[in-house]
Amino acid sequence: MFPVQLFLVSSTLWTLQRSLCHGACVEVDSDTDAVVNENFKLGCISCKMRAEVPATATVNWTFTPRGENETIHIYTYKEAGIIENERFYGRLCWNGSRNTTDLQDGSICLQNVTWNDTGTYNCSFKRILTFPSYEVTTYASKVVHLNVLSLRTRGMASILSEAMMYVTIIGLQLWLLVEMIYCYRKISAQGEEALRESASEYLAIALDSKDNQALAAVAE
Ligand SMILES: *[C@@H]1O[C@H](CO)[C@@H](O)[C@H](O)[C@H]1NC(C)=O
Ligand SMILES: *[C@@H]1O[C@H](CO)[C@@H](O)[C@H](O)[C@H]1NC(C)=O
Ligand SMILES: *[C@@H]1O[C@H](CO)[C@@H](O)[C@H](O)[C@H]1NC(C)=O
Ligand SMILES: *[C@@H]1O[C@H](CO)[C@@H](O)[C@H](O)[C@H]1NC(C)=O
Ligand SMILES: *[C@@H]1O[C@H](CO)[C@@H](O)[C@H](O)[C@H]1NC(C)=O
Ligand SMILES: *[C@@H]1O[C@H](CO)[C@@H](O)[C@H](O)[C@H]1NC(C)=O
Ligand SMILES: *[C@@H]1O[C@H](CO)[C@@H](O)[C@H](O)[C@H]1NC(C)=O
Repeated sequence: MFPVQLFLVSSTLWTLQRSLCHGACVEVDSDTDAVVNENFKLGCISCKMRAEVPATATVNWTFTPRGENETIHIYTYKEAGIIENERFYGRLCWNGSRNTTDLQDGSICLQNVTWNDTGTYNCSFKRILTFPSYEVTTYASKVVHLNVLSLRTRGMASILSEAMMYVTIIGLQLWLLVEMIYCYRKISAQGEEALRESASEYLAIALDSKDNQALAAVAE
């Protein structure tokens, strides 16, 4: 059990340290499996490389439906969000950074997901870094390939890793039990042997002293 716990603790510490070192901004990849008729968060995080430099950013989202080669502009965020295409009217909302123009999280939420929402989403950041005497414009983009499912299913990897966890825990417990039984048997066997040994020694001593007494009697 020890190595598993050690691993968990050290990986948690490592993640914590990583997020602290990057000013709490970590570029987490978006989920890619949405469920039809539910809401879904299209995640898009672009961390500012120079956390100490003031900046402003704007975000665009585009969508390429699966099987089509036309890309449509669906959302713009510049101080406020604007839905740019009628197929998403009333269905997109902002889930990114709030109360700042220095955006690092450009996530949006997609409400009442339909089968037609399947496709490729592209989130692009345009960031203007303001240095004391000049400005630098940087671009970054993230792509989300969205699948729409009829039911919430768990990824194979998650199921496998949970199964592995149980196998490991139960396996280790069984191993511990077997080891305990083995040790118990060994100790009790040694105990009996020791008893037997001391008994035979006692007998030998007793016989010895009897012999001596007999010899002494003969000698007298
Ligand atoms: C993609 O666009 C090209 C040119 O606009 C067109 O010839 C082609 O058929 C289109 N492909 C699909 C899958 O729509
Ligand atoms: C989403 O679907 C629910 C239930 O069908 C409906 O009440 C709601 O108005 C819909 N929301 C949007 C933004 O279409
Ligand atoms: C996204 O924003 C909507 C509306 O503001 C909110 O209801 C929803 O909980 C948010 N989702 C996440 C994952 O933050
Ligand atoms: C953002 O601004 C709104 C109104 O200006 C305020 O109600 C809200 O508390 C602010 N949120 C944060 C996280 O500062
Ligand atoms: C999905 O797209 C097809 C073909 O473009 C259209 O006939 C259908 O009405 C659309 N469904 C929804 C829910 O928007
Ligand atoms: C996403 O959009 C940006 C800006 O329009 C573009 O530079 C980038 O190539 C796009 N990425 C993909 C995979 O289409
Ligand atoms: C978003 O799109 C508009 C119009 O296509 C463009 O002017 C703007 O620079 C784009 N912004 C980003 C962040 O890519």
